[in-house]
Amino acid sequence: MTDILPAFEQGRHLLSVSQFTRENLKRLFDVADAVDPIAKRQAVCTALDGAMLGSLFFEPSTRTRLSFESAFQRLGGEVTTTTGFTFSSMAKGESIADTSRVVSGYSDVLVVRHPDEGSVAQFADASVVPVINAGDGAGEHPSQALLDVYTLEKELSLRDKVVDGSHLAIIGDLKFGRTVHSLMKLMSLYHHLTFTVFSPPGLELPSSIEQYVTQRGHHVHVVDNVVEAVHGVDVIYATRVQRERMTEELDQAGTRGDLLNWSILAEADNLDAILMHPLPRDSRPDAFDLSNDVDDLPGLAIFHQTDNGINVRMAIFLTTLGVSIEAVHLTTKQRSWKATLRP
Ligand code: ASP
Ligand code: CP
Repeated sequence: MTDILPAFEQGRHLLSVSQFTRENLKRLFDVADAVDPIAKRQAVCTALDGAMLGSLFFEPSTRTRLSFESAFQRLGGEVTTTTGFTFSSMAKGESIADTSRVVSGYSDVLVVRHPDEGSVAQFADASVVPVINAGDGAGEHPSQALLDVYTLEKELSLRDKVVDGSHLAIIGDLKFGRTVHSLMKLMSLYHHLTFTVFSPPGLELPSSIEQYVTQRGHHVHVVDNVVEAVHGVDVIYATRVQRERMTEELDQAGTRGDLLNWSILAEADNLDAILMHPLPRDSRPDAFDLSNDVDDLPGLAIFHQTDNGINVRMAIFLTTLGVSIEAVHLTTKQRSWKATLRP
């Protein structure tokens, strides 16, 4: 994917975070704020009545697929979906181009996840409707970065801080972790950021991402110790080892125990940091991920990220399908059911 894709707006694909400026990012976040009652299911909307989402996931997913599909349905649209290669005709040798042309003929927008870097751009080339990249191999995951930054703005503002000038630790699998690639590129739109990065040997941040960030005036410090990485930062963004993308040798490379846990944060004197993770968190023993023993810490934002994913994905659909917030208000009514548990 190139850095010269058109800006993300009505009728455009969303393939990379490089399609954003500070201005269109703010517009998207304003829409995400405005649809909050619908995202929280306090109100019911039919703005996308008659619209069809084609949801194609050729890699495992829980939150991206379900939140994109929920977001579309909350706006009154319908969803047609296929998951995995086994249940699509790609298992019979059908090409990306043919699959994309066919399904785009059934849909008004496609959301696609595929294990190969650059593959979602190939879907976009053959599609007759806009295509949203829901993760292309180790490439990008733009909607995740958008919801991450949306969440980060909110978490920092609760502490009377802003993203500009903040200090982040980015830790874990920085080589294959596409969420980190999109996040660091998108955050480059802000000013005076410091990223301290830590990864196990062999899983270092690609130099292309480091260059992208430093060329835009930010600082990247590479450290080889997780305590040093998380000391003094405002935000910690931890990631899972992407074992599905690596060789057995790399899989053995020092990725055992916890990447981050309560004791490490205590030793780094940073138990108050904002804690983020794209999820899923690998909670199996020795998975080298964020431990569950941090879950009572005040800065834990991982489930704010997942909740905010609905708002941001609704805003993505409204933007690419050209629906104004006025049209959303005109087609919204209060809900008539009570969904909470009895006390
Ligand atoms: N769910 C994210 C992704 O698909 C992160 C991960 O799987 O670790 O990229
Ligand atoms: N964060 C994320 O993309 O999660 P899933 O892989 O479960 O969709």
